[in-house]
This record gives sequence, C-alpha cells and structure tokens, in this order.
Amino acid sequence: MRMRVIPYVLSLLACGGTAFAADAWQALPETAPAPADNPTTAAKVELGKMLYFDTRFSSTGTVSCFSCHNVMEGGDDHRPTSIGVHGQVGGRNAPTVWNAAFHSVQFWDGRAPSLEEQAKGPPANPIEMGMANLDATIGRIRAIPGYQPYFKAAFGDGDVITMDNAAKAIAAYERTLITPNSAYDRYVKGDKTAMSAQQIKGMETFAATGCTACHSGPAFNGAANLPQGTGFFMKFPTFPGSVYETQYKLTEDLGRYTVTKNDADKSMWRVPTLRNLNYTAPYFHNGLVKTLDEAVRVMAKTQLNKELSPEQVADIVAFLGALDGPFPQQTMPRLPPTPGDLLTEN
Ligand code: HEC
Ligand code: HEC
Repeated sequence: MRMRVIPYVLSLLACGGTAFAADAWQALPETAPAPADNPTTAAKVELGKMLYFDTRFSSTGTVSCFSCHNVMEGGDDHRPTSIGVHGQVGGRNAPTVWNAAFHSVQFWDGRAPSLEEQAKGPPANPIEMGMANLDATIGRIRAIPGYQPYFKAAFGDGDVITMDNAAKAIAAYERTLITPNSAYDRYVKGDKTAMSAQQIKGMETFAATGCTACHSGPAFNGAANLPQGTGFFMKFPTFPGSVYETQYKLTEDLGRYTVTKNDADKSMWRVPTLRNLNYTAPYFHNGLVKTLDEAVRVMAKTQLNKELSPEQVADIVAFLGALDGPFPQQTMPRLPPTPGDLLTEN
C-alpha cells in the first residue's frame, strides 16, 4: 500500500490544470473488476448480500453493514459521523458503498487494500459492530444452521464457514453495487443529448478549474490505472490557511498519518469518487459540509486556490448531478432463523 504521487498531476496543479483531453473522459465499466482469488459468482453475491443485511453480525444484534450503508438510497447514512452499537458515535463520515468496487484502496485513509480486507474491519470495531473479535463474529454465523447451504453453494465442501469467506462473499455483493449508465456515462458513450447544456458547460468548468487533476477516470477517484492496493492520496487542504480550514475543522484528523505515523502523510487523504454525490450529503471525511455547492467551493479554494463565481459553482454542481445513478434494484434478502441463545453472549 505504497503512496503514489503522479508527477503529471503535480505539474498540472502547478500550471493551473487546464489541459484535459476530451478523450480522457471515461464511462464506468458495466462490471466491477474482481481479484483472481475471488471471482464474482451468483452464489457468493447471494450469500454476501445476506451477511450485509444481517444484524446478527454485531454484538447487540442491532447493527448491520446496511445500518450505515443504506443501499436502498445513497449507500451511506447521512450523518456527519456514524452511530454504531450502543449509540456510540464514530469519528468519520461513512462513505458510500456504491462504486466502492472501483477504489484501489478502501477507507478515507486508504488503510484497507481491498473490499475483502475492508469487510473484516467493522464487525470487531468496538464502536461499529462491537464483536469481541473475528472468531466470535464468524462463530455467530456458524451457530446459525441455515447459513450452511449458502456457504456450501458459494465455496464448496469442507470447513468453508470462515471469516475470510464471509468477507469474500460481502465483497462479491459489493461488486454488484455499481452505477454505470448515468447521464454522464451515456454522454461519453456517444449520446450527446444525455446531458443538459448546463451539465456540459459544468463538465468543461470542472476540467478547466483543475478538478480532473485528482478526480479523473471512470469513478473520478484517480484510481483507474492503479494496481489494487495502491492508493491515490492527495493532501487536503493542499493550500493551507483558508477560512474553510477552521470553519470545517479540516486539519483535526490527520488522515493517512493516523495509519502510517509518517510525517509526510499528514493531511493526506484517498481521493474519493464523485459519483452519486446528490445522494451522499454531508461531505468530506468529517461530514461537516452539508451542501454540494459548499463542498465544490471548499475544494476549489483548498485544492486549487481558486474562488469560483456562483455561476461556475452551479454549473459544476449540475455536472456532478450527471454522475448520479441509475441504481440497480435492491431487494431485501431472507435470512435464516436465529437459535434462541445466539445473542445472549458476545
Ligand atoms: C457504524 C457504522 C458502520 C457500519 C456498521 C459499517 N460501516 Fe462501513 N464505514 C463506516 C465508516 C464511518 C467508514 C469510513 C471509516 C474510515 O474511513 O475511517 C466506512 C467505510 C466503509 C467502506 C470504504 C468505502 C470507501 O470509500 O473507502 C466500505 C466498502 C464499507 N465501509 C463497507 C462496510 C461493510 C461491508 C460493512 C459490514 C461488514 C460495514 N461497512 C459496516 C461506517 C460503518
Ligand atoms: C489536489 C487534489 C484534488 C483536487 C484538485 C480536487 N479534489 Fe476534490 N477531493 C480531493 C480529496 C483528497 C478529497 C477527500 C477530502 C476529505 O478528506 O474529505 C476530495 C473530496 C471531494 C468532494 C467530497 C466527496 C465526498 O464524498 O465527501 C467533492 C464534492 C470534491 N472533492 C469535488 C471536487 C471539485 C468540484 C474539484 C474542483 C473544483 C475538486 N474536488 C478538486 C482531492 C482533490
């Protein structure tokens, strides 16, 4: 999980970042890439979806992945920071799971190299799902006999009810949570009527302002050509000292530094996707910015040292709206029944 700073990105930033070739706009692929040791199969997706919705994955039996990542809507929870077991409040904003499959590393600070590794984080996180450890977590699932046929169908015979397999199944389900065919995707694929005149203007303003220096590629996270596990991190704020920095407490959390303890990683953050932003307010790692136009103003000032006119902000926001949806239909899974003593101990 080495940090990569791409030299041309920095030179674009230095000269104001206007050079963005028209053919650099890319549509989202129709399927998400999967690692060689976890090809996506229907059986895994079905099991992963069950686990994703299963509150028995938490100590109290009340919190599931779905609690904080609502896939019936934006794939997040709309709180500045999340609430886990026993009403405990966490320190960061829940990012959307929609299109997380296109990130090369997971979490705001990039500490998980894959969706598989990410999925093993929340269950034993004392604030989120509160299980004592991953053995206790998978113990819960083992104690539910109705899960056995699903693990068998996904992973074959033998001792297959393991946390690694549970994480693989969840990751496989998450790889179906993607939104190709937004207005932007249709536009880039050739349907020139898919975006409005204002959205097209906003797309040009987005590139001319320099946003594409970091938010490029199909998911607008700069990660398109990076090997899995290699994060694309950028400093936020890049230009220190703006009013936004104190107003929104942008430097209280030191980002990637909290993982590496390396001074050069202070205030470095993984560049997030810009898809489905109308569904994922509030914004940024601490969720302190409530509206998309304010988020755009903050970015222009802190990352590019630019003040945008109200018209430019409106145009960029209109363009970002072209990156919304459409979302594949989600149906709630049926879950196997609970043995009576399952939740009595953690
Ligand atoms: C209590 C709320 C909560 C629960 C429960 C929860 N998450 Fe999260 N999730 C978060 C927060 C907050 C973050 C960001 C934390 C950070 O970056 O430090 C996050 C990050 C993620 C990410 C990374 C997305 C990105 O853009 O980097 C994925 C994927 C994810 N969660 C999936 C899951 C799955 C799968 C489960 C269930 C096993 C789950 N989450 C359970 C709150 C939650
Ligand atoms: C130097 C790199 C860089 C540039 C240039 C840049 N961004 Fe960002 N952007 C980031 C990073 C890093 C984050 C994550 C910040 C954090 O920790 O919350 C981010 C976050 C965002 C978010 C919040 C996403 C969310 O889910 O909360 C929006 C919206 C956004 N950028 C839009 C833009 C726009 C519009 C521009 C151009 C005006 C732009 N960005 C320019 C690096 C950049």
